[in-house]
Amino acid sequence: MATKEPFYITTPIYYPSGKFHIGTAYTTVIADALKRYKSLQGYDSYLLTGLDEHGQKIENIAKSQGKKPQEFVDEMAMEAKKIWSIMNIEYDDFIRTTEERHIKIVQDIFDYFMEKGDIYKGEYEGLYCTPCETFFTETQLVNGKCPDCGREVHEMKEEAYFFNMKKYAQKLLDYYDTHPDFIKPEYRKSEMINNFIKPGLEDLCVSRTSFEWGIPVRKDPKHIVYVWLDALTNYLTALGYGSKDDSLFKRYWPPAVQIVGKDIARFHLIYWPIFLMALGLEIPKTILVHNWIVMKDGKMSKSKGNVIFPEMLIEKYGLDATKYFLLKAVPVSQDGIFSPEEFVERFNIDLCNDLGNLVNRTVGMINKYYNGKLPNYIGQVNEQDKEIELIIVKQKLEFEEKMEELQFSNALTEIWEIISRCNKYIDETAPWILSKEGERKKLSSVMYHLVESLRFVAVLLQPFMHETANSIFEQLGLTKFEYKTWESIERFCNNIENVTVTPVGKPLFVRLNKEEEIEYIKNQMKKA
Ligand code: MSP
Repeated sequence: MATKEPFYITTPIYYPSGKFHIGTAYTTVIADALKRYKSLQGYDSYLLTGLDEHGQKIENIAKSQGKKPQEFVDEMAMEAKKIWSIMNIEYDDFIRTTEERHIKIVQDIFDYFMEKGDIYKGEYEGLYCTPCETFFTETQLVNGKCPDCGREVHEMKEEAYFFNMKKYAQKLLDYYDTHPDFIKPEYRKSEMINNFIKPGLEDLCVSRTSFEWGIPVRKDPKHIVYVWLDALTNYLTALGYGSKDDSLFKRYWPPAVQIVGKDIARFHLIYWPIFLMALGLEIPKTILVHNWIVMKDGKMSKSKGNVIFPEMLIEKYGLDATKYFLLKAVPVSQDGIFSPEEFVERFNIDLCNDLGNLVNRTVGMINKYYNGKLPNYIGQVNEQDKEIELIIVKQKLEFEEKMEELQFSNALTEIWEIISRCNKYIDETAPWILSKEGERKKLSSVMYHLVESLRFVAVLLQPFMHETANSIFEQLGLTKFEYKTWESIERFCNNIENVTVTPVGKPLFVRLNKEEEIEYIKNQMKKA
């Protein structure tokens, strides 16, 4: 199949404000899963992540730590790369907005907008939220506070440059109308239209004079480019847009999927496509807005003592279990909740009981009844064989559909449908009775169908839980590359031959003591 068609995926570039908790890691975990999935399907996928290093907030944090902003962001960039390496994130580039390749192009773009008349000089008077670096109008506030972070806002007046958003409002609505795949999930589109565009899109203030840590406007350097115009541009500058070598840009633009959390939807669904229209560039094919991982008592925060860092979970329970939980936790239309109880439960039920036991039992039975050598396919012998064959192929299609919709949690559910059907298949066919009664044909057919179903499971799991998938292949003796490819699960494969399972099954996940582990995670959260 190997299409080698380009598939450009981006995560937001992160604010370097501290350690990454599981919530901030979430966007990148799903982006990584998507990248691996598309690569498995034969696409030439390219994943960009990075850091958003400018702005008053960074300037303030660095100052409070007695550091120069550059020194502070350099440390943070190392921290970010370390966590992505621990989480085995396969990114292709890591852009930092303090890099020369970015700064120069942002200045060029600002100049271009000025020349074009899309940016004009005016005076800004409004309510400003420093942590969010955003001006709000009175009506946008919630209980007099910032609608995004809930903190105090203050009056601010300054000479500033504005981007003429009004000019593009209708064009944007038309674009939404004619491109139904642009915003996923769809309900986010009506939010944008009803909350921000229909009430009247204001021109956007795109420069600041109240601080220094940012990119100066080339023709008027006391002005600093608004951090969101600076940050959004990273998706272009990372590909070399506007530079001498723009080969990556030529290959990968426009993005196939840009992933953003719900709090930054407005910037990506309104301002970003408008900037691109103004530049005469193609708009991304899809922007996925995901919900958040929250705790039972709301947002994660140090003061509440409810923060959980991915390292804590990875160290104790492994990378795959941690990723599984994150990917599974957030449904399409609401926030997902992390709780120690839920984490341990999912670990014990989904990973140990359902998946781990199935692999273990299968390896054990092939060893016991066939000295480890998988019998060849002999057709649909048991009553349930036909159904199993149909189900794994059907589930693969359902999985694909969910992935097309970028519904990662639901896609995993489809894989677990195969797993639970296989467990039921073992109970229904009762191989131990078939063995006792000398039903060798029936018995060998059960073994073959189990291995083939687990092969489907392992192929589908590869983008999400790489180590687990590899362990399944290895334990089942499916080491040949051709058994692991996307093409290999297009249909039920009836010619797996000369396969020997490992003599002793290796548990994929070891069952946790519920009380002890819940206590352990709670303590870790308190310590954080
Ligand atoms: N710097 C901006 C993005 C600029 S992109 C041009 C930013 N950075 S951030 O570090 O604050 O957030 C990065 C991502 O993490 C966002 O997509 C945000 O929604 C996501 N999350 C932050 N907390 C989260 C959870 N608790 N759960 C899921 N995602 C969360 O915004």
